[in-house]
Amino acid sequence: MSSTRDRLDAATEHLDPPVAVVDLDAFDHNAADLLRRADGRPIRVASKSVRCRYLLERVLRRPGFAGVMSYALPEALWLTRAWTGTDLADTDILVAYPTVDHSALRALAADDAARARIAIMVDSVAHLDLVDAALGADHPELRVCLELDVSWRPLGRLHIGARRSPVFTPGQAATLAAAITARPGFRLVGVMGYEGQIAGMGDAPAGKPVLGAALQWMQRGSAKELVRRRAAAVRAVKAVCPLEFVNGGGTGSIEVTRADPSVTEIAAGSGLIGPGLFDGYRRFTPEPAVLFALPVVRRPTPGIATLFSGGYVASGPANRDRLPIPQFPQGLRLLTVEGAGEVQTPVTGAAAAGLRVGDRVWLRHAKAGELAERFTEYHLIGGGVEGRAVPTYRGEGHSFG
Ligand SMILES: Cc1ncc(COP(=O)(O)O)c(C=O)c1O
Repeated sequence: MSSTRDRLDAATEHLDPPVAVVDLDAFDHNAADLLRRADGRPIRVASKSVRCRYLLERVLRRPGFAGVMSYALPEALWLTRAWTGTDLADTDILVAYPTVDHSALRALAADDAARARIAIMVDSVAHLDLVDAALGADHPELRVCLELDVSWRPLGRLHIGARRSPVFTPGQAATLAAAITARPGFRLVGVMGYEGQIAGMGDAPAGKPVLGAALQWMQRGSAKELVRRRAAAVRAVKAVCPLEFVNGGGTGSIEVTRADPSVTEIAAGSGLIGPGLFDGYRRFTPEPAVLFALPVVRRPTPGIATLFSGGYVASGPANRDRLPIPQFPQGLRLLTVEGAGEVQTPVTGAAAAGLRVGDRVWLRHAKAGELAERFTEYHLIGGGVEGRAVPTYRGEGHSFG
C-alpha cells in the first residue's frame, strides 16, 4: 500500500465517497515548480483549470503569480466582486475567450471597478460591433486584448494547433489593432496567443516513442516559427499603441514560451493540479494534487470490482485518454468495453481481487478543472489546513461553461 494512499484514506475515512480531495502539499509544490520553470516570468493563473476560489486565492497570494486568465465574463465579474475590499481587489483579469453575452457586457460597462480590472478578448471587428450593439456606441471604455493565432502552418494550408483567432500575420494584427484604437469605447491593452500544439500536447506519450519523436519535431518547428512571427506581430501592434502585456503559453510550454522575449507573462493552471493528460511531458511532472475516491459497490467476478459513479470524462477528442485514471490501489484499470460509467465503473487488474465491497478506489481526472463541475466541495489535506472543505465553483452555485 502506498503512503499517499494511506494519507488519503486516513484523511477522508469519516467521509462517504464519492469524495474529492486536494493535497495542498502537492498543490503548493506544483505552484513552486511552475515558478521555477517560468524563471522570473510572471504566471497568470488559468482559472478554468482550477474552478475553485480557495485554490485560486491561495496561488494568487504567492509572489510570482499575477492575475487571472478567466474563461467567461460572468466568472470575471463574480471574481472581481468577491475580491472587492480584500487584498486581491486589484487582481487583473483577462477573459481569454471572446464573449457575446449581452447581459454580462452590460454589467461590465456599468461597473467602474470591474472595467478597470477586466480585459475582454477580441480577434475581429465583429467582436467590437457586437459590444457596440449590446451597449450602444457611446459605452464607457472597455479594456480589450487582441488574440493572435499562434498555430503552425508549415505548408501554408496545413494547420497545426487550435482553431481560435483569424489573426495570423503581423499585418493582420496591426490592422485589427488600428481598428480597435480608432473606435471609441475600446482600449487595447494586451496581445495573447496560446500555442496549444506545444502546451497542450505531451511530447512523451507513454508507450508511443514514435509519436513522441514526431511531436517533438513538430513542437521544435512550431516554436522556431512562432518566436519570429509573434515578435513581429507584437512590434506591429506596439507601433499602433502601447501594450501592458503579451500573454503566451500554458503549463505544457513554459520553457518554450519563456524563451520568447516578446512574451511578458505565461498562463498556467493545469500544472497546479496534475491531471492525467499532463503525465506525458518530458520537461516536467506535476504531482497529483486533486484526486477523487469512489466506493466499491459490487464484485461481479473475482477479477472485477465495480465502483459507484465515475463517468467524469474530459473534454476534447473523445479518446481513451479522456477517461479518469485509477490511481490507488496501484494496478487497476478501466474495462475497455465499459470505460467510466454514468453510475457504475468496473475496474480490473492485479489489485482488483483484493478489493471488498465498501473499500474505496482513488482516481484522477484527465483534465484539471472539470472535476470541479462534478463536486460541490474539495476536502483539503496537508498544507497546514487539514480537515477543511472548500467549495468549488459549482458548490458556490456557479457553472460558467
Ligand atoms: C488561452 C489559454 N492559455 C493557456 C492555457 C493553458 O492552461 P493550462 O496551463 O491549464 O494547460 C489554455 C488552456 O486551454 C488556454 O486556452
